[in-house]
Amino acid sequence: MCGIVGIIGNKPIAEDLVEALRRLEYRGYDSAGVATVEDGKLVRRRAEGKLRNLEKRLLSDPLQGHIGIGHTRWATHGRPTEVNAHPHMSATVSVVHNGIIENFRALKEELTACGHVFESDTDTEAIVHLITDEMQKGASPTKAVEHALSKLQGAFALGIIFSGDEDMMIAARKGSPLAIGHGKDEMYLGSDAIALAPFTPEITYLEEGDWAVLRRSGVEIFDVESKPVKRQAIRSVASSLMVDKGNHRHFMAKEIHEQPEVISHTLANYIDMSKAKVVLPDLGVDLVTLPRVTISACGTAYYAGLVAKYWLEQIARVPVEIDIASEFRYREAPMPPGGLAVFISQSGETADTLAALRYCKAKGQKIASVVNVRTSTIARESDSVLLTLAGPEIGVASTKAFTCQLAALACLAIGIGRARGTISREQEIAYVEALLEVPRLISALLAEDGQFNDIAQHLSQARDVLYLGRGVSFPLAMEGALKLKEISYIHAEGYAAGELKHGPIALIDENVPVIVVAPEDELFPKTISNMQEVAARGGQIIMISDADPVAAGCEQAIHISVPKVNPLASPLLYAIPVQLLAYQTAVSRGTDVDQPRNLAKSVTVE
Ligand code: AGP
Repeated sequence: MCGIVGIIGNKPIAEDLVEALRRLEYRGYDSAGVATVEDGKLVRRRAEGKLRNLEKRLLSDPLQGHIGIGHTRWATHGRPTEVNAHPHMSATVSVVHNGIIENFRALKEELTACGHVFESDTDTEAIVHLITDEMQKGASPTKAVEHALSKLQGAFALGIIFSGDEDMMIAARKGSPLAIGHGKDEMYLGSDAIALAPFTPEITYLEEGDWAVLRRSGVEIFDVESKPVKRQAIRSVASSLMVDKGNHRHFMAKEIHEQPEVISHTLANYIDMSKAKVVLPDLGVDLVTLPRVTISACGTAYYAGLVAKYWLEQIARVPVEIDIASEFRYREAPMPPGGLAVFISQSGETADTLAALRYCKAKGQKIASVVNVRTSTIARESDSVLLTLAGPEIGVASTKAFTCQLAALACLAIGIGRARGTISREQEIAYVEALLEVPRLISALLAEDGQFNDIAQHLSQARDVLYLGRGVSFPLAMEGALKLKEISYIHAEGYAAGELKHGPIALIDENVPVIVVAPEDELFPKTISNMQEVAARGGQIIMISDADPVAAGCEQAIHISVPKVNPLASPLLYAIPVQLLAYQTAVSRGTDVDQPRNLAKSVTVE
C-alpha cells in the first residue's frame, strides 16, 4: 500500500526520486520522504500529506546525494505524521518499506532493551535498528541485512542504503512487489515498472523471498536461502505508456472515457473476430466434467466476480462458489478435485486475493487469474492468466479495469459454455455480437454525460443513498454504492431489489435517493414493483434504464436513459452511469477524486 523507490545515479538524484514517487502516489499518499548519502552521511527530508509538501521541503532545503531512496506512504502502523514518514534511519542505515512486519513489537522490545531508541510508532523502524544492531556487532551491511531478513515475519518490499557507501543499495522482497531497473552505470529500484519508466524500460522483478545488492555496475540477486540466482530482465511497456490525464480534470474521468477503447482491446484478446468465436487460454481443467468454479476477489473486482457467477451458472451451467478474499482465505473451504479457482485483481498484488489463491493452489485447484498487470504476483502464481487490457489505471476508484474484467469474464463464460455444449454455436455468435456492440453503446452514453450533472448536484446533498438491482444488476448496484462511497464519502448501500421489503425499506423517506439499475430484462417487471414500493413511501427514485419510466408506471422517477443492449452485456453498459454518477457527485462535493482519503490503489497488506 506504499510506494518505494531507490536510485544509484551519477548526479544529484533527489528530483528523480520525487518523479518516481509521483508515479507511485496511487499506492498511498499520507506522507512522503527521501534520504540520500552526502559526503558519506545519511541525510533525509520528509513531509506529511501529499508529495507536493515534500517537493516544497526539498525546494527550500535540497539534497545533493547521488544515491538515495524514497517513499510515499499509506499508513498502517502509526498516524500519518512526519515522524512516522519513511525513510526511517539510524546514523548508519536508512530504510523504506512497503508491507507490514507482523512481529515488530517483539523486535522493538528486544532492540529497545539493547539500548536502541525508537523515534516513531512504525513497524519499519524496527528493521532499521535490527540492521544497525547487527552492524554494531561487527557484521557487514549485507550480512546484517541477511540476518535481519531472517528475523522478519510479515510482508515487505525494502530499499536500504548505508552511511559511508555511495555505491550500494540493498533490496528485498517478501509479499510485496519490487522491481529493479537497469540503467547505464545507474541502477534503480521501484514498487513497479511505472515508477521506473522515466529512467529505464529494462526491468527485473524480484521473486518471493529474493534480496539483492545493487551497485552502479549491476545487481547480484539472492534467493530466500541467500543462494545467488539469475532473474530475467524484461523490457517493460510502462515506459511507453504516457500516464497522464490527457484533457481530463482527473485520471478517473480519463479512465471512464477510455472504456470503449480498452474494452475493445480486451474483447479482441479473446474473440476470433473472423469467426465471432471465443478463444480461451488453456485453463488446465476438463471443462466438460468441471465440478465447480471458485471465485475470490476484493472490492470492485469482487463485484465483477459476482456478475461472472450469474454468467457461468446461466451460460456454462457450472456451479460457482464466490467469496470476498479476506473471508475466503480463512474459511478452510473444502475444494472439489478437478476444480478451477478464478482470482480477479486489477493490480494483481492484493494481499487477501493472493492468499486466497495460495489456499486454492494448496488444495489442488487449477488457478486462473483475471488481472490488469501481466507481471504481477497473482499473474505469476497462476496456471493461466486472462489479461484485461485496460492499461495503467491510476485513479484509486476502479472503472475501466472493472468493465474490462467483465469483458474477460463474459468471454470465459461463453468459452466454457461452448466447451461444455451448454450453448450452441448460434448462441455463441449472438453473445459475441452483443459484447462487440458494447464499446459503441458506451461511447453513445459518454457523449450524453451532461445528463448526470443535475442529478449529481442533488445526490451531493444526500446523507444516505440506496442502490437496487436484480440478477446481474445486483452486483452493479453494490459497485455503484462502492463508487459513491469511496470518492464522495456519502454513505451508500447496494441491495438486491427483492430484499428491500425484508428490512431496508424502513430507511425509505423523501431524504433517501434510491438509484435503481433497471435494464428492461426478464426481471424488469419485478424491479418495477420494488420501485413502486419505494414510491409509495415517498422515496426519490433515480431509474437507470433503457425503458421509459412513464410506460413502466414510474412516472415520478428521475430517468437516466441507457441504450438498449442484450441482457448479457448490460453489466458492462450499466457500469458507466453508476461510475459517472459517483464521479460527478464527488466533483460537486470537491473531494479528491483520484486519491480519496484513507484509500490506496493497491492493497498489499491484510
Ligand atoms: C475499487 O474502486 C476500489 N478502489 C477497491 O475496492 C479495489 O477494487 C480492491 O482493492 C481490489 O483491488 P485489485 O483489483 O487491485 O485486487
